[in-house]
Amino acid sequence: MVDTTYEAARTDSRRTAVPPKIRNLNANNEVPAYMSEVYDWAYVNPAKVGWLDRNIVVKTLLFGNDQRLMRAYLALIKPGMRVWQIAHVYGDLVVRAAQRVGAAGCFHLTDITPVQIEHGQRKIGHLPWVRVIRHDAAHFEGEGHAYDLICSFFLLHEVPEEWKHAIVDNMLSQIPDSGEAVFVDYHRPAWWQPVGYILRVVNHFLEPFAKSLWEREISSYASQASMFEWEKECLFGGVYQIVRVRRRASQNPAGC
Ligand SMILES: C[S@@+](CC[C@H](N)C(=O)[O-])C[C@H]1O[C@@H](n2cnc3c(N)ncnc32)[C@H](O)[C@@H]1O
Repeated sequence: MVDTTYEAARTDSRRTAVPPKIRNLNANNEVPAYMSEVYDWAYVNPAKVGWLDRNIVVKTLLFGNDQRLMRAYLALIKPGMRVWQIAHVYGDLVVRAAQRVGAAGCFHLTDITPVQIEHGQRKIGHLPWVRVIRHDAAHFEGEGHAYDLICSFFLLHEVPEEWKHAIVDNMLSQIPDSGEAVFVDYHRPAWWQPVGYILRVVNHFLEPFAKSLWEREISSYASQASMFEWEKECLFGGVYQIVRVRRRASQNPAGC
């Protein structure tokens, strides 16, 4: 049965920053069940997080592509921008992103897991232009609902489908005409890429929500995809994708 309230809200996400169904998804900002059931060892258990939060871990997990993938995000940040990074990332990425934004801008880092907030706070919480906020990315609303840049760095593949829809819609609802969203994440590897066979095993045992990014475009999670321009670049034999999203100019014929 069609949820008419949600459908109605989805058709005008520019006016309704967060449609009701999205707001209701984990409305109390609890650590979602998928985190404790699937990712406890990786992101929730403080002792293990203490060990894992290192650059070498990120480099290993990304088969040495970490710097290339991070640079694609960091290059989009100009000093003075308003930037929202929707989840904490191990290693020094949040430090580098916050430093690029600088004192003339603002950098908001959200995450849903308490220990991740602690780590984010320790890394960048002392910078006056930074806010580290415990919040589900599916319904976080920035002040004024407008960021110059919103980044999802390897979050989508770790959340269930319902969250993928909500997170993509929520991010897009908060980019103004001049703003941009960027997704850096997994993609379907080319048949000849041997890493693809390793990732099939990893996904089977450890990453149950990752496979769908091999099967569908990130744009297909947006309820109003046609209002946006989608630019996708694949790297490392298709293992990774960088998707940049901007509002279509035709959506704003009056220029206001
Ligand atoms: C960005 S992803 C993966 C990043 C990458 N694998 C790394 O090296 O850290 C992991 C983060 O997403 C956070 N997370 C998961 N679901 C979330 C949600 N719905 N909203 C905000 N943060 C979320 C987790 O707490 C964790 O800190």
